[in-house]
Amino acid sequence: MDFLLVLAVACAASVALRHPLHKWPVAFYGLAVVADVTYIVGIEGLLPRAVMGPLTLLMGKCMLSLALFVVVMYVGVFVKGSRAHQWLKPVRSELSIIACILACGHMAVYLASYAPRLGSAMGSNVVGALVVAVALLVLLLVLGTTSLGFVKRHMRTESWKRLQRWAYVFFGLVYVHLMLMLAPAASRGGEAAVASVAAYTMVFGAYAVLRVRRATLDRGTGHGAAPMARELDDAPATCA
Ligand code: HEM
Repeated sequence: MDFLLVLAVACAASVALRHPLHKWPVAFYGLAVVADVTYIVGIEGLLPRAVMGPLTLLMGKCMLSLALFVVVMYVGVFVKGSRAHQWLKPVRSELSIIACILACGHMAVYLASYAPRLGSAMGSNVVGALVVAVALLVLLLVLGTTSLGFVKRHMRTESWKRLQRWAYVFFGLVYVHLMLMLAPAASRGGEAAVASVAAYTMVFGAYAVLRVRRATLDRGTGHGAAPMARELDDAPATCA
C-alpha cells in the first residue's frame, strides 16, 4: 500500500537527514513551503503529469505529512536511550513543524472545495467531515505554532505542556478523518480503500497500544516521581 511505502521512506529520510535538519531547520521549512506552492501550482494544470503523479500522492493525499507525523508519534514509544530515540528525539519538533507545513497545501485545496457547499443543504456525512476538518485545521495551527522554539520560549512551561497534550486529540481526529474519507469506498468493497483502512488502522492501533504500554512501564520503573511531566515530555509534537 502506498502509505506504508511513503512511511518507510520518511523514516529512513528522518534518520539520514537528522543532522542537517537539526542544524538548518529553516531550510527544510522553506522546502516544505516550496512543495505546498508547487502542488497548488500543479492543481492549476501548470505542471507535467510526470510531476503531478507523485505530488498528488505525497501532497494532495497528504501522505508525506502524515508519514512525518507518524514518525513524531512513534518517538514517544521508543525506549529511552535506544538508537531510534537518540536519533529522532532531538529533531522531533522540527519534523512536526515540517509535517504541519506540508499539510497546509492539502488542507487549503480541500477546504476550498468545501466552501461552495456552505450555505446549501449538506448531508450529515459531509457536515461530519467538515467539522473534523475544521478541528484539524485549528489544532494543526495551534500545535504547529507552539512547536516553534521562539514561541515556546515565550510560554510558561506548564501551559505549553498542557497545550501540547492536544496532539493526542489531533492524531485521534486524523484517524477519524481518514476513516471518513475511506469508509464509503471501503464499504462498497473497493480493494484499495480496504487495504488503506487496514494499513492506517494498524499504524494508529499499534501506536495507541505501545504508547499506553510505555506510560505504564515508565510509572512501574519509578520514573513516576513526576509522571505527568514525564508523560507530557513525550507529548507527540513537543520540542526535545
Ligand atoms: C482542513 C483540513 C482537511 C481537509 C479539508 C481534508 C480533506 C481531505 C479530503 C477531501 C480527502 C479525500 C481526498 C481524495 O480522496 O483524493 C482527504 C484525504 C486524506 N487526508 Fe485530509 N483533509 C484535512 C486535513 C488532513 C490532515 C491534517 C491530515 C494528516 C496530516 C490529512 C490526511 C489525509 C490523508 C492521508 C488522506 C488520503 C487518505 C487515502 O486515500 O489513503 N488530512 N483529506
